[in-house]
Amino acid sequence: MINFTWYNPTKIIFGKNTHNEVGNETKKYAKKVLLHYGGKSLKATGTYDAVVNSLKNEGVDFVELGGVRPNPRLSLVQEGIEICRREGIEFILAVGGGSVIDSAKAIAAGVPYEGNVWDFYSTEKQPEKMLSIGVVLTIPAAGSESSDGSVITNEEGPDKRSCCTDLMYPKFAILNPELCYTLPVNHISAGGADILAHIMERYFAPNSNTDLSDRLSEAAMKALIYNLPKVLKDNKDYDAWAEVMWTGCVAHNGLLGRGRQEDWASHGIEHELSAIYDIAHGAGLAIIFPAWMKYVNDAHPERFVQFAQRVFDVDTQGKTEDEVINEGIEKLEAFFKGLGLATTLHEAGIDDKSFEVMAQKAAGNWTLGSIKKLTAKDIVSIYKKAL
Ligand code: NZQ
Ligand code: ZN
Repeated sequence: MINFTWYNPTKIIFGKNTHNEVGNETKKYAKKVLLHYGGKSLKATGTYDAVVNSLKNEGVDFVELGGVRPNPRLSLVQEGIEICRREGIEFILAVGGGSVIDSAKAIAAGVPYEGNVWDFYSTEKQPEKMLSIGVVLTIPAAGSESSDGSVITNEEGPDKRSCCTDLMYPKFAILNPELCYTLPVNHISAGGADILAHIMERYFAPNSNTDLSDRLSEAAMKALIYNLPKVLKDNKDYDAWAEVMWTGCVAHNGLLGRGRQEDWASHGIEHELSAIYDIAHGAGLAIIFPAWMKYVNDAHPERFVQFAQRVFDVDTQGKTEDEVINEGIEKLEAFFKGLGLATTLHEAGIDDKSFEVMAQKAAGNWTLGSIKKLTAKDIVSIYKKAL
């Protein structure tokens, strides 16, 4: 186990009806907030009314900015920054999924900064101060509700980049599994793939002697694999949703990676796909992750054997190491297919014409990968494996 620090200050408020506590929680930080949300779903589901009533009941004034799209855009972030400055707002309440939360984090970073907020995403600068944010989560997926990161798309590239800093942790995150009942199947599936990917990015590490982190990760993966099909079958299964929502939060709150060098190559490779093709992040990961596993498993085969055995119960009797590894990857692909997700670029309608550009961009920003360091050439090979 390598040395580590673990810091996660986000207060989690979990369970039935908890979204009605948002006014009470918010008023601890501000009397006036920016209420930030996405598209039509928030009003259609009734969550908007519940949140607004709770804010009004607690005397919290608000200005609103809706319209965040999946793969949130820099232009709306800049609009939000202007609104906060004009209205003297110092707290942002994000009601939605990863896209809304990430947009809120970007606005929070941009308000006290004199330059262009994109500087933080092009990694030229790190935020030194930020406004605080709170969250009401409506989709278990990105884990942004208790993560230190935000991912924004600059339409001018298009470039999709992340910024990570301890200042990004929300003050609180309200997780009511009942709010997930209205999610359409495609978002449930993509969200589930993202949750699994967040655990696997931490699990496939070059380190040994990480037994606790391994077993916590395996338990989290098994809980997700068991409960996600249940919510697809019955979208009002509270108990299964509770497991999925809590797993989504724990998958990305930092705990499961402790003592290991996390990988994150698949995320880097996927972000280029969602930047150019506007594919849902989790849907892109369901295609990229198995291809990445096929390409890198020779660097640390023991990790991939352990994954096959412990997560997908692959019987190793009489099989070679490669056979066990391949069976584990096949079972992962079958799980994604069972969720209705594409597992090849071809199925997602993506061809090979942007491979070189995407690989250059993915490799150009930082060294990709930990279990195996990847150059742009390696990344092209992974895209080819995903075709
Ligand atoms: O369009 P609207 O009406 O807003 O509907 C949303 C959206 O279309 C819908 N939705 C959300 N809650 C709903 C609902 N529909 C019905 N009922 C509900 N209760 O779901 C759609 C997808 O929402 P989005 O926020 O885009 O999903 P997700 O949470 O998967 O977030 C994806 C974004 O997060 C980034 C991704 O790259 C992507 O941009 N990530 C952020 C991370 C972080 N900050 O730590 C880490 C992740 O790895 C990821 O990169
Ligand atoms: Zn992700």
